[in-house]
Amino acid sequence: MLTIFLFWSLILLKLISALTIKGQLDVTPYNLSTFKISNTRFRLQQIGSLDSNKHPIKATAYIQDPDGSFEFNNIEVDERINKTTRFVIYPLSKDFNVKPNRVLVEFFMNENGTLETKGFRNYFGREYFPSKDIKFPEKLDPIDIKPMVRFSLVQKQPFRNYLQVRNPGVLKSGMIANILHSPWKMALVLIALTVIIFPIYVENFDPETVKLMKEQRRKQQREKYQIPN
Ligand SMILES: *[C@@H]1O[C@H](CO)[C@@H](O)[C@H](O)[C@H]1NC(C)=O
Ligand SMILES: *[C@@H]1O[C@H](CO)[C@@H](O)[C@H](O)[C@H]1NC(C)=O
Ligand SMILES: *[C@@H]1O[C@H](CO)[C@@H](O)[C@H](O)[C@H]1NC(C)=O
Repeated sequence: MLTIFLFWSLILLKLISALTIKGQLDVTPYNLSTFKISNTRFRLQQIGSLDSNKHPIKATAYIQDPDGSFEFNNIEVDERINKTTRFVIYPLSKDFNVKPNRVLVEFFMNENGTLETKGFRNYFGREYFPSKDIKFPEKLDPIDIKPMVRFSLVQKQPFRNYLQVRNPGVLKSGMIANILHSPWKMALVLIALTVIIFPIYVENFDPETVKLMKEQRRKQQREKYQIPN
């Protein structure tokens, strides 16, 4: 049992090599050093896995310098002849709209022992890359990923606007804002105010005016019901 395990371990050790995938985010015309670069990261996800006992590789890379460089280290690639290992790399950024939104990276071991590297980009609005299992896959759009996978900003739309005011004030958030923004609640409040405030308002008129108003009212009532004076 142990010998079989060792045998397979040796085979796997020999047939899998770990390599580094390098990438770069170009944010021209902006200067990356003025941004909090931890707000931008890149995810790598393996498609399929080298053998059924292993989970597909997942990794995250952060930008390392003002040039926008990042890298995924110790990425295992199948080195058996005619075998392909595939990864998808996608950007996650709070500050920028980055393109391509996904890049497919393929490693293929040629019969002559050279590892061929290919890259393809995805378009916006398309969620998944075509797979060999799909009958009519869409055509992949090849990109140059040597010496690194390059990402840049989507033109005309460089910034994301997720600005949140921390203390918006009572008129914009909270209970009062809730009432102000709802016509029904606003109507209820107005009725309540009228009921409470109107009598106070009337009481604060000077006595002569109140007397006059009452007089006027009585007169109107009498006229209405034709009561003689
Ligand atoms: C970006 O800004 C840093 C510091 O503010 C500066 O040293 C660097 O030269 C700038 N880079 C570019 C490309 O303007
Ligand atoms: C690799 O693929 C080529 C072309 O399909 C084939 O001729 C060759 O026998 C394959 N080699 C191995 C080791 O599977
Ligand atoms: C190995 O094979 C590939 C494809 O068949 C070819 O493009 C490449 O030039 C070859 N490399 C060497 C070193 O022979």
